[in-house]
Amino acid sequence: MSKLDSIKTGLKDLQFVKIPVVKDHRGNLAYLQWGDMPFDFKRVYYIFDIPSGAKRGGHAHLVSKDLLIAISGSFDVIVDDGQERRRIHLNNPETGLVTPNGIWRELDNFSANSICLILNSELFSEDEYIRDYEEFVRFKKIAR
Ligand code: TYD
Repeated sequence: MSKLDSIKTGLKDLQFVKIPVVKDHRGNLAYLQWGDMPFDFKRVYYIFDIPSGAKRGGHAHLVSKDLLIAISGSFDVIVDDGQERRRIHLNNPETGLVTPNGIWRELDNFSANSICLILNSELFSEDEYIRDYEEFVRFKKIAR
């Protein structure tokens, strides 16, 4: 994926992924195995201890892709490709949402004790972020 690819992506490129889960009488075990995911991830991070009413995200990635999972509780993911905006509620540790590069993303409506786990396709680099929405919309218009 490159910066040019990210101009072209849209909400049609969002993808839901079924996470493999092994269930038995002791509880459930979900695993994220390198090679089995929709992209090869280089980084895992998670957001936790989220105060009531907090908002996270508010950016787009120029290069990297994310896979987001509500591993505890629930929250909303607001996705926007510069033309269309959608709110997606995540509340199931067995389902992940892939957001490609070039998609504006915000997170809000966190339930108490929620945890958002994110796999990312690249190592962290602030250079590949757009954190200003107007700049993001201008960037996406280049392709149209
Ligand atoms: P930020 O992008 O604001 O988090 P979110 O968009 O999920 O709400 O990141 C908060 C800070 O953490 C910011 O200074 C960048 C830093 N950070 C890292 O150092 N490494 C990482 O892998 C991530 C995701 C963020």
